[in-house]
Amino acid sequence: MRHLMSPLDFSVDELERLFNLANDIEKNREKYAHACDGKTLATCFYEPSTRTRLSFEAAMLNLGGNVLGFSDASNSSAAKGESVSDTIRVISCYSDICAMRHPKEGAPMVAATKSLIPVINAGDGGHQHPTQTLTDLLTIRSLKGSLSNYTIGLCGDLKFGRTVHSLIRALLRYEGIKFIFISPEELRIPDYIISELNDKGVEYTEVTSLDEVIGSLDILYMTRVQKERFFNEEDYVRLKDFYILTKEKMSMAKENMMVLHPLPRVNEISVEVDDDPRAAYFKQAQYGVYVRMALILSLLNLAPEVLTQD
Ligand code: NCD
Repeated sequence: MRHLMSPLDFSVDELERLFNLANDIEKNREKYAHACDGKTLATCFYEPSTRTRLSFEAAMLNLGGNVLGFSDASNSSAAKGESVSDTIRVISCYSDICAMRHPKEGAPMVAATKSLIPVINAGDGGHQHPTQTLTDLLTIRSLKGSLSNYTIGLCGDLKFGRTVHSLIRALLRYEGIKFIFISPEELRIPDYIISELNDKGVEYTEVTSLDEVIGSLDILYMTRVQKERFFNEEDYVRLKDFYILTKEKMSMAKENMMVLHPLPRVNEISVEVDDDPRAAYFKQAQYGVYVRMALILSLLNLAPEVLTQD
């Protein structure tokens, strides 16, 4: 049985096959409409989410399966003091696969060790968000044709943004990727990621000005300042509008630069940018459903060609 805790849990070849399956699903929706008949997905969300939870649910419903779960820790037995290990043992009796989001780093991993069904980490604190990364990679690969040879700017909250942490690690496995980290001093990328980049000899620069570098980017990954992970409101208020991507800034970017954002957006991308053909964030949300469909099929062994069996 396989789980998904980090994007590195799947080899590059397994990811290629997963993305091919996702693209096939995109083109032939009907072919998969009953692929999960009789199967149930549990969504255990201990932290608020709209799109990740709903995209998991949409993915399972599109496959003909059922969904159950909770969207808030206060609605679950966690409020009575139940551990995630006990919760997953019980959920294993009610469902075939579980997507879990938790504010504590490592909680889905603890659950996976006790689980009788595959567990997917749907975001653990500021740590990892592997299914968002699969979404990001599928979007880049589908719209740009490959996952190699790009200069990627990651902009905003690089300290607390788990989508950024997962994406960087996943991209380290592809050729010719250069990173430009664009953040205020207080929200710089964590040292442990910088050490990984240094160890692997990957090219990166850290800057505070988006204007200075936007013209050199192939992909711009914008992120929200993660209000819920700040220790005080004052710092959040000071930093929340540090970057706002506007039409004017887009005029300095390459004609084929792609703008991604895991969403939800707050102020960091002005709505006037939405009509720009380079804005790919709503398409990205759609790819998130296809990739989660492919993932559910693979982890349930209903697409045995994707994951290598031990
Ligand atoms: C992200 C998350 O939850 O980390 N959202 C998402 O999954 N689509 C990004 C965010 O909340 O800013």
